[in-house]
Amino acid sequence: MFARITGVGGSLPGNPVTNLDLIRRGVDSDDDWIITRTGIRARHLATPETLSSDLALEASRKALRSAKVDADEIDLIILATSTPDCIFPGTACLLQAKLGNKSAMTFDIQAACSGFVYALTIAEKFIRTGNCKKALIAGAEILSRILDWNDRSTCVLFGDGAGAVVVEASETPGILSCVAHADGAYHSILTVPGMVYGDKIIGHPFLKMDGHAVFRFAVRALFDIAEKCCANAGVPPGDVDWFVPHQANLRIINSTAKRLGIGPERIVVTLDAHGNTSAASIPLALDVAVGDGRIQRGQKLLLEGVGGGMTWGAVLLEF
Ligand code: ACO
Repeated sequence: MFARITGVGGSLPGNPVTNLDLIRRGVDSDDDWIITRTGIRARHLATPETLSSDLALEASRKALRSAKVDADEIDLIILATSTPDCIFPGTACLLQAKLGNKSAMTFDIQAACSGFVYALTIAEKFIRTGNCKKALIAGAEILSRILDWNDRSTCVLFGDGAGAVVVEASETPGILSCVAHADGAYHSILTVPGMVYGDKIIGHPFLKMDGHAVFRFAVRALFDIAEKCCANAGVPPGDVDWFVPHQANLRIINSTAKRLGIGPERIVVTLDAHGNTSAASIPLALDVAVGDGRIQRGQKLLLEGVGGGMTWGAVLLEF
């Protein structure tokens, strides 16, 4: 029995906000600087009333439609987010209610930008062991609320959005290999360290990043894990049809792909249009490349992500 992606969907709130729009809104930056260092040209920013579960709902409905699965058939919902609607209940539960599903097991995953890969890895185990038949996996983020808009070294990098996939038990492949790791010793290089204590926020409530340290960590971790994930399935990385990486930074993506022997024509890049949407970025990229016909059934895809924790993971699958 395999776990197979049968539907994908994405959701981006409102209109794109370009680098120049940000600069016009007062961010002390430069369009060329952002494009050259990151590849990002625009991002989407949610309105104050929007919640992560709202974005997840739109992406999930699209994924369910494309899988031709009704919401009440889903028996597992995992939602990856660093920006939950509230402390509890879990945003996966709130998404479940909005979908009208009444019986699925639901929980959130907090693995920052690796959240989607972690969630897919867990769902695969539930399905392969026969515990679940149809899972909904979503990544949803409203990162704009945890950014310091006076810190130009971070605020230009991130955006809001959601992506989702339906994963079903199937006799045809399927997820072929999943690998995930974490090393909490690196917690301080990418973090939102604040906490709610009584009626106050203790500590810094916004994202803090040591960009150089994250860059070095990401390039090494992504290459190692991609090799390991492919080796587990006996597939050379250079043989994958599409590389669908976490959309954080074009320089990280290109250097990882080059070391893996994957040419630029086989990389799905969407970060130019929505920046780093953390746990949402991989399913958003999948949604675009499936929607425009680049990704076809039967092709081999390598998904991988790295994020705060530090956490990192990769999934090799036949689509
Ligand atoms: N606009 C204009 N100038 C800027 C900006 C900005 N938005 N941000 C920083 N600068 C300036 C700095 O002040 C500095 O100026 P100075 O030399 O006069 O002091 C100069 O640019 C160089 O700054 P660096 O931090 O050295 O720039 P670097 O080339 O390292 O690029 C970046 C910064 C893009 C963040 C890089 O370190 C990086 O890509 N890191 C990876 C982090 C990443 O992708 N994180 C995403 C989240 S993590 C994840 O998803 C895995």
